[in-house]
Amino acid sequence: MRWKEQLLTLIPYQPGKSIESVKRQYNLQNIVKLASNENPFGCSPEVSSLLAEIPVSMAIYPDGYATLLREKLATHLGVGQDELIFGNGSDNLIQIISRALLHPQASTVMASPTFSQYKHNAVIEGASIKEVPAINGEYDLDGMIAAIDEQTNVIWVCSPNNPTGTYIPAQRLVNFLDQVPEHILVVLDEAYSEYVIADDYYNSIELTRKYQNLIVLRTFSKIYGLAALRVGYGVANPAIIKALEPAREPFNVSAIGQLAAATALADQKFIEVCRQKNRQGLAQFYDFCHQYHLSYYPSQTNFILIDFNKDGDQVFQFLLKKGFIVRSGKALGYPTAVRITVGSTDQNTGLIEVMKQFLEGSE
Ligand SMILES: Cc1ncc(COP(=O)(O)O)c(C=O)c1O
Repeated sequence: MRWKEQLLTLIPYQPGKSIESVKRQYNLQNIVKLASNENPFGCSPEVSSLLAEIPVSMAIYPDGYATLLREKLATHLGVGQDELIFGNGSDNLIQIISRALLHPQASTVMASPTFSQYKHNAVIEGASIKEVPAINGEYDLDGMIAAIDEQTNVIWVCSPNNPTGTYIPAQRLVNFLDQVPEHILVVLDEAYSEYVIADDYYNSIELTRKYQNLIVLRTFSKIYGLAALRVGYGVANPAIIKALEPAREPFNVSAIGQLAAATALADQKFIEVCRQKNRQGLAQFYDFCHQYHLSYYPSQTNFILIDFNKDGDQVFQFLLKKGFIVRSGKALGYPTAVRITVGSTDQNTGLIEVMKQFLEGSE
Protein backbone atom coordinates (compact mmCIF):
# COMPACT_ATOMS: atom_id res chain seq x y z
CA MET A 1 0.00 0.00 0.00
CA ARG A 2 1.12 3.53 -0.62
CA TRP A 3 0.65 5.17 2.75
CA LYS A 4 1.31 8.88 3.06
CA GLU A 5 5.03 9.03 3.75
CA GLN A 6 4.60 11.31 6.75
CA LEU A 7 2.56 8.65 8.57
CA LEU A 8 5.69 6.54 8.83
CA THR A 9 7.36 9.24 10.91
CA LEU A 10 4.55 9.50 13.45
CA ILE A 11 3.78 7.56 16.57
CA PRO A 12 0.16 7.40 17.69
CA TYR A 13 -0.88 9.75 20.51
CA GLN A 14 0.39 8.35 23.81
CA PRO A 15 -2.47 8.58 26.29
CA GLY A 16 -1.83 8.56 30.05
CA LYS A 17 -1.47 5.00 31.40
CA SER A 18 -4.76 3.26 32.07
CA ILE A 19 -5.79 2.39 35.61
CA GLU A 20 -6.35 -1.24 34.65
CA SER A 21 -2.89 -1.69 33.11
CA VAL A 22 -1.17 -0.20 36.17
CA LYS A 23 -3.22 -2.40 38.50
CA ARG A 24 -2.00 -5.47 36.64
CA GLN A 25 1.60 -4.37 36.20
CA TYR A 26 2.20 -3.45 39.82
CA ASN A 27 -0.40 -5.63 41.49
CA LEU A 28 -1.94 -2.62 43.24
CA GLN A 29 -5.58 -2.25 44.19
CA ASN A 30 -5.96 1.52 44.48
CA ILE A 31 -4.74 3.62 41.61
CA VAL A 32 -5.20 7.38 41.32
CA LYS A 33 -5.02 8.71 37.77
CA LEU A 34 -3.98 12.35 37.61
CA ALA A 35 -2.52 12.27 34.12
CA SER A 36 -5.01 13.50 31.55
CA ASN A 37 -6.62 16.57 33.10
CA GLU A 38 -10.00 14.95 33.60
CA ASN A 39 -12.35 16.19 36.31
CA PRO A 40 -11.80 14.27 39.61
CA PHE A 41 -15.36 15.17 40.62
CA GLY A 42 -16.86 13.51 37.55
CA CYS A 43 -19.84 15.14 35.89
CA SER A 44 -23.00 16.80 37.15
CA PRO A 45 -25.24 14.41 39.13
CA GLU A 46 -27.95 15.43 36.64
CA VAL A 47 -25.95 13.72 33.90
CA SER A 48 -25.29 10.62 36.02
CA SER A 49 -29.04 10.15 36.63
CA LEU A 50 -29.75 10.71 32.95
CA LEU A 51 -27.20 8.09 31.88
CA ALA A 52 -28.66 5.53 34.27
CA GLU A 53 -31.76 5.52 32.08
CA ILE A 54 -30.40 6.61 28.71
CA PRO A 55 -33.39 7.81 26.66
CA VAL A 56 -31.58 7.22 23.38
CA SER A 57 -32.31 4.64 20.73
CA MET A 58 -29.20 2.60 19.96
CA ALA A 59 -30.52 1.70 16.50
CA ILE A 60 -30.92 5.26 15.25
CA TYR A 61 -28.04 7.42 14.03
CA PRO A 62 -27.29 10.44 16.20
CA ASP A 63 -28.60 13.84 15.14
CA GLY A 64 -25.92 14.99 12.73
CA TYR A 65 -26.90 18.61 13.41
CA ALA A 66 -26.86 18.14 17.22
CA THR A 67 -30.07 20.18 17.33
CA LEU A 68 -30.79 20.12 21.06
CA LEU A 69 -27.19 20.63 22.13
CA ARG A 70 -26.78 23.35 19.50
CA GLU A 71 -29.83 25.24 20.79
CA LYS A 72 -28.75 25.00 24.43
CA LEU A 73 -25.14 25.89 23.73
CA ALA A 74 -26.04 28.83 21.48
CA THR A 75 -28.23 30.23 24.26
CA HIS A 76 -25.61 29.56 26.93
CA LEU A 77 -22.89 31.34 24.94
CA GLY A 78 -25.11 34.02 23.44
CA VAL A 79 -24.16 33.10 19.86
CA GLY A 80 -26.13 32.13 16.78
CA GLN A 81 -26.66 28.44 16.06
CA ASP A 82 -24.80 28.92 12.80
CA GLU A 83 -21.70 30.00 14.74
CA LEU A 84 -21.18 26.49 16.19
CA ILE A 85 -19.53 23.31 14.96
CA PHE A 86 -19.35 20.09 16.99
CA GLY A 87 -16.60 17.51 17.21
CA ASN A 88 -15.97 14.07 18.63
CA GLY A 89 -13.93 15.84 21.28
CA SER A 90 -12.00 18.96 20.34
CA ASP A 91 -9.32 16.59 19.01
CA ASN A 92 -11.72 15.92 16.17
CA LEU A 93 -12.08 19.65 15.48
CA ILE A 94 -8.31 20.00 15.29
CA GLN A 95 -8.38 17.21 12.73
CA ILE A 96 -11.25 18.80 10.77
CA ILE A 97 -9.48 22.18 10.64
CA SER A 98 -6.23 20.55 9.54
CA ARG A 99 -8.00 18.55 6.89
CA ALA A 100 -9.73 21.65 5.58
CA LEU A 101 -6.75 24.01 5.48
CA LEU A 102 -3.45 22.15 5.58
CA HIS A 103 -1.68 20.46 2.67
CA PRO A 104 1.89 20.05 1.41
CA GLN A 105 2.03 23.57 -0.02
CA ALA A 106 0.71 25.17 3.18
CA SER A 107 2.51 26.15 6.37
CA THR A 108 1.22 26.36 9.92
CA VAL A 109 2.52 28.19 12.99
CA MET A 110 2.37 26.93 16.56
CA ALA A 111 4.17 27.33 19.86
CA SER A 112 6.49 24.77 21.38
CA PRO A 113 5.82 23.09 23.71
CA THR A 114 2.09 23.01 23.28
CA PHE A 115 -0.70 20.47 22.80
CA SER A 116 0.69 17.74 20.56
CA GLN A 117 -2.27 17.28 18.25
CA TYR A 118 -1.70 20.49 16.24
CA LYS A 119 1.63 19.22 15.02
CA HIS A 120 0.47 15.64 14.66
CA ASN A 121 -2.35 16.59 12.31
CA ALA A 122 -0.19 19.06 10.41
CA VAL A 123 2.36 16.30 9.77
CA ILE A 124 -0.36 14.00 8.42
CA GLU A 125 -1.53 16.72 6.04
CA GLY A 126 2.05 17.24 4.90
CA ALA A 127 2.12 20.95 5.81
CA SER A 128 5.34 22.64 6.78
CA ILE A 129 5.41 23.33 10.49
CA LYS A 130 6.83 26.41 12.14
CA GLU A 131 7.29 25.94 15.85
CA VAL A 132 8.03 29.02 17.91
CA PRO A 133 9.64 28.23 21.28
CA ALA A 134 7.83 29.54 24.34
CA ILE A 135 9.84 31.91 26.54
CA ASN A 136 9.71 31.01 30.24
CA GLY A 137 6.51 29.09 29.59
CA GLU A 138 4.84 32.08 27.88
CA TYR A 139 3.84 32.27 24.22
CA ASP A 140 6.25 34.29 22.07
CA LEU A 141 3.49 35.99 20.09
CA ASP A 142 5.87 38.36 18.28
CA GLY A 143 7.89 35.33 17.24
CA MET A 144 4.72 33.69 15.95
CA ILE A 145 3.86 36.74 13.87
CA ALA A 146 7.40 36.74 12.50
CA ALA A 147 7.05 33.05 11.58
CA ILE A 148 4.10 33.72 9.26
CA ASP A 149 4.96 33.29 5.59
CA GLU A 150 3.11 33.43 2.28
CA GLN A 151 1.93 29.85 2.71
CA THR A 152 0.64 30.10 6.27
CA ASN A 153 -2.98 28.96 6.57
CA VAL A 154 -3.42 28.23 10.28
CA ILE A 155 -1.96 29.54 13.56
CA TRP A 156 -2.60 27.52 16.71
CA VAL A 157 -2.90 29.32 20.04
CA CYS A 158 -3.55 27.29 23.17
CA SER A 159 -4.60 29.47 26.11
CA PRO A 160 -4.38 28.37 28.80
CA ASN A 161 -1.61 26.30 27.34
CA ASN A 162 -1.11 22.59 27.82
CA PRO A 163 1.34 21.55 29.35
CA THR A 164 2.28 24.78 31.17
CA GLY A 165 -1.14 25.95 32.39
CA THR A 166 -0.20 29.55 31.56
CA TYR A 167 -2.55 31.91 29.72
CA ILE A 168 -2.24 34.90 27.40
CA PRO A 169 -3.54 38.15 28.93
CA ALA A 170 -6.26 39.95 26.94
CA GLN A 171 -4.20 42.88 25.71
CA ARG A 172 -1.43 40.66 24.40
CA LEU A 173 -3.88 38.43 22.58
CA VAL A 174 -5.67 41.38 20.98
CA ASN A 175 -2.37 42.94 19.84
CA PHE A 176 -1.50 39.60 18.29
CA LEU A 177 -4.85 39.14 16.54
CA ASP A 178 -4.56 42.66 15.14
CA GLN A 179 -1.40 41.63 13.34
CA VAL A 180 -2.51 38.31 11.84
CA PRO A 181 -3.49 38.68 8.16
CA GLU A 182 -7.20 38.05 7.64
CA HIS A 183 -6.76 35.06 5.33
CA ILE A 184 -5.05 33.04 8.10
CA LEU A 185 -7.25 31.09 10.51
CA VAL A 186 -6.33 31.57 14.17
CA VAL A 187 -7.38 28.58 16.27
CA LEU A 188 -7.75 29.54 19.92
CA ASP A 189 -7.86 26.28 21.87
CA GLU A 190 -9.63 26.94 25.16
CA ALA A 191 -10.03 23.42 26.51
CA TYR A 192 -9.45 24.76 30.03
CA SER A 193 -11.20 28.15 29.80
CA GLU A 194 -13.79 27.31 32.47
CA TYR A 195 -11.01 26.92 35.04
CA VAL A 196 -9.53 30.37 34.42
CA ILE A 197 -9.85 32.95 37.19
CA ALA A 198 -7.36 35.60 35.96
CA ASP A 199 -8.89 39.09 35.77
CA ASP A 200 -7.23 39.91 32.48
CA TYR A 201 -8.45 36.84 30.63
CA TYR A 202 -10.36 37.77 27.48
CA ASN A 203 -13.89 36.99 26.39
CA SER A 204 -13.03 34.83 23.41
CA ILE A 205 -16.60 34.59 22.17
CA GLU A 206 -16.70 38.38 21.81
CA LEU A 207 -13.40 38.21 19.98
CA THR A 208 -14.93 35.92 17.34
CA ARG A 209 -17.25 38.84 16.52
CA LYS A 210 -14.40 41.24 15.99
CA TYR A 211 -11.98 38.86 14.26
CA GLN A 212 -13.50 37.11 11.27
CA ASN A 213 -10.52 34.72 11.09
CA LEU A 214 -10.79 33.36 14.65
CA ILE A 215 -12.21 30.04 15.81
CA VAL A 216 -12.46 29.14 19.50
CA LEU A 217 -12.32 25.46 20.47
CA ARG A 218 -13.79 24.16 23.72
CA THR A 219 -14.64 20.79 25.19
CA PHE A 220 -16.96 18.91 27.51
CA SER A 221 -14.01 16.64 28.46
CA LYS A 222 -12.49 18.80 31.18
CA ILE A 223 -14.57 20.74 33.71
CA TYR A 224 -17.82 19.15 32.47
CA GLY A 225 -16.38 15.72 33.33
CA LEU A 226 -17.48 13.97 30.13
CA ALA A 227 -14.13 12.96 28.59
CA ALA A 228 -15.36 9.45 27.79
CA LEU A 229 -18.30 10.72 25.73
CA ARG A 230 -16.18 12.83 23.35
CA VAL A 231 -17.91 16.15 22.80
CA GLY A 232 -16.10 19.32 21.76
CA TYR A 233 -17.21 22.43 19.91
CA GLY A 234 -15.94 25.34 17.90
CA VAL A 235 -17.28 28.91 17.86
CA ALA A 236 -16.62 31.16 14.88
CA ASN A 237 -18.44 33.37 12.43
CA PRO A 238 -20.88 31.53 10.14
CA ALA A 239 -18.61 31.74 7.09
CA ILE A 240 -15.87 29.76 8.86
CA ILE A 241 -18.34 27.19 10.17
CA LYS A 242 -19.86 26.77 6.71
CA ALA A 243 -16.45 26.23 5.16
CA LEU A 244 -15.44 23.63 7.76
CA GLU A 245 -18.68 21.61 7.79
CA PRO A 246 -17.92 19.49 4.69
CA ALA A 247 -14.75 18.22 6.41
CA ARG A 248 -16.74 16.97 9.40
CA GLU A 249 -17.99 13.38 9.46
CA PRO A 250 -21.79 13.50 9.34
CA PHE A 251 -22.42 11.69 12.65
CA ASN A 252 -19.29 12.58 14.55
CA VAL A 253 -20.92 13.19 17.95
CA SER A 254 -22.76 10.29 19.57
CA ALA A 255 -26.37 10.61 20.65
CA ILE A 256 -25.46 9.93 24.28
CA GLY A 257 -22.70 12.50 24.11
CA GLN A 258 -25.05 15.16 22.76
CA LEU A 259 -27.66 14.51 25.42
CA ALA A 260 -25.18 14.36 28.27
CA ALA A 261 -23.48 17.58 27.13
CA ALA A 262 -26.81 19.43 26.87
CA THR A 263 -27.73 18.23 30.36
CA ALA A 264 -24.31 19.10 31.78
CA LEU A 265 -24.57 22.62 30.41
CA ALA A 266 -27.72 23.25 32.44
CA ASP A 267 -25.95 22.52 35.74
CA GLN A 268 -23.64 25.53 36.02
CA LYS A 269 -23.67 25.24 39.83
CA PHE A 270 -21.69 22.02 39.51
CA ILE A 271 -19.18 23.79 37.24
CA GLU A 272 -18.74 26.58 39.80
CA VAL A 273 -18.13 24.04 42.58
CA CYS A 274 -15.52 22.26 40.42
CA ARG A 275 -13.82 25.57 39.63
CA GLN A 276 -13.54 26.39 43.34
CA LYS A 277 -12.37 22.93 44.36
CA ASN A 278 -9.78 23.08 41.62
CA ARG A 279 -8.34 26.32 43.06
CA GLN A 280 -8.18 24.70 46.49
CA GLY A 281 -6.41 21.70 44.98
CA LEU A 282 -3.92 23.92 43.16
CA ALA A 283 -3.20 25.67 46.47
CA GLN A 284 -2.21 22.29 47.97
CA PHE A 285 0.34 21.83 45.18
CA TYR A 286 1.60 25.41 45.43
CA ASP A 287 2.20 24.92 49.18
CA PHE A 288 4.09 21.73 48.48
CA CYS A 289 6.25 23.43 45.83
CA HIS A 290 7.06 26.33 48.17
CA GLN A 291 7.95 23.95 50.99
CA TYR A 292 10.38 22.02 48.77
CA HIS A 293 11.59 24.99 46.69
CA LEU A 294 10.36 23.49 43.46
CA SER A 295 9.53 25.76 40.55
CA TYR A 296 6.20 25.60 38.73
CA TYR A 297 4.10 27.72 36.43
CA PRO A 298 1.11 29.38 38.13
CA SER A 299 -1.77 27.54 36.54
CA GLN A 300 -5.11 28.70 35.15
CA THR A 301 -6.09 25.10 34.49
CA ASN A 302 -6.75 21.87 36.37
CA PHE A 303 -3.15 20.74 36.11
CA ILE A 304 0.24 21.92 37.23
CA LEU A 305 3.68 21.44 35.71
CA ILE A 306 6.22 21.00 38.51
CA ASP A 307 9.95 21.02 37.87
CA PHE A 308 11.65 18.43 40.06
CA ASN A 309 15.11 19.11 38.65
CA LYS A 310 15.33 15.37 38.15
CA ASP A 311 14.59 13.16 35.18
CA GLY A 312 10.80 13.41 34.71
CA ASP A 313 10.56 9.71 33.81
CA GLN A 314 12.22 8.80 37.09
CA VAL A 315 9.70 10.84 39.11
CA PHE A 316 6.87 9.38 37.03
CA GLN A 317 8.03 5.79 37.65
CA PHE A 318 8.37 6.35 41.38
CA LEU A 319 4.84 7.74 41.65
CA LEU A 320 3.47 5.00 39.40
CA LYS A 321 4.77 2.25 41.66
CA LYS A 322 2.94 3.94 44.52
CA GLY A 323 -0.32 3.94 42.58
CA PHE A 324 -0.36 7.49 41.16
CA ILE A 325 -0.47 7.99 37.40
CA VAL A 326 0.82 11.42 36.33
CA ARG A 327 2.55 12.56 33.10
CA SER A 328 6.29 12.75 32.75
CA GLY A 329 7.30 16.11 31.33
CA LYS A 330 9.83 14.40 29.07
CA ALA A 331 7.42 13.78 26.23
CA LEU A 332 5.85 17.20 26.82
CA GLY A 333 8.98 19.27 26.28
CA TYR A 334 9.93 19.70 29.94
CA PRO A 335 12.30 16.80 30.66
CA THR A 336 12.80 17.47 34.37
CA ALA A 337 9.16 18.11 35.19
CA VAL A 338 5.95 16.18 35.68
CA ARG A 339 2.46 17.36 34.82
CA ILE A 340 -0.10 16.59 37.48
CA THR A 341 -3.86 16.83 37.13
CA VAL A 342 -5.42 18.40 40.21
CA GLY A 343 -7.45 15.71 41.95
CA SER A 344 -9.79 15.70 44.92
CA THR A 345 -8.37 16.97 48.24
CA ASP A 346 -7.62 13.42 49.38
CA GLN A 347 -6.04 12.39 46.11
CA ASN A 348 -3.82 15.50 46.18
CA THR A 349 -2.84 14.86 49.81
CA GLY A 350 -1.93 11.25 48.99
CA LEU A 351 0.12 12.23 45.97
CA ILE A 352 1.93 15.02 47.81
CA GLU A 353 2.85 12.53 50.54
CA VAL A 354 4.43 10.23 47.96
CA MET A 355 6.22 13.12 46.23
CA LYS A 356 7.69 14.07 49.60
CA GLN A 357 8.95 10.50 49.98
CA PHE A 358 10.57 10.81 46.57
CA LEU A 359 12.29 14.07 47.43
CA GLU A 360 13.40 12.88 50.86
CA GLY A 361 14.74 9.64 49.40
CA SER A 362 12.58 7.44 51.61
CA GLU A 363 10.47 4.55 50.35
C1 LIG B 1 -5.30 21.94 25.00
C2 LIG B 1 -6.14 20.77 24.66
N1 LIG B 1 -6.90 20.81 23.58
C3 LIG B 1 -7.68 19.79 23.23
C4 LIG B 1 -7.72 18.64 24.00
C5 LIG B 1 -8.57 17.51 23.53
O1 LIG B 1 -9.71 17.40 24.28
P1 LIG B 1 -10.95 16.53 23.82
O2 LIG B 1 -10.62 15.92 22.50
O3 LIG B 1 -11.14 15.52 24.88
O4 LIG B 1 -12.08 17.51 23.72
C6 LIG B 1 -6.94 18.55 25.14
C7 LIG B 1 -6.95 17.32 25.95
O5 LIG B 1 -6.15 17.07 26.80
C8 LIG B 1 -6.13 19.64 25.49
O6 LIG B 1 -5.34 19.61 26.58
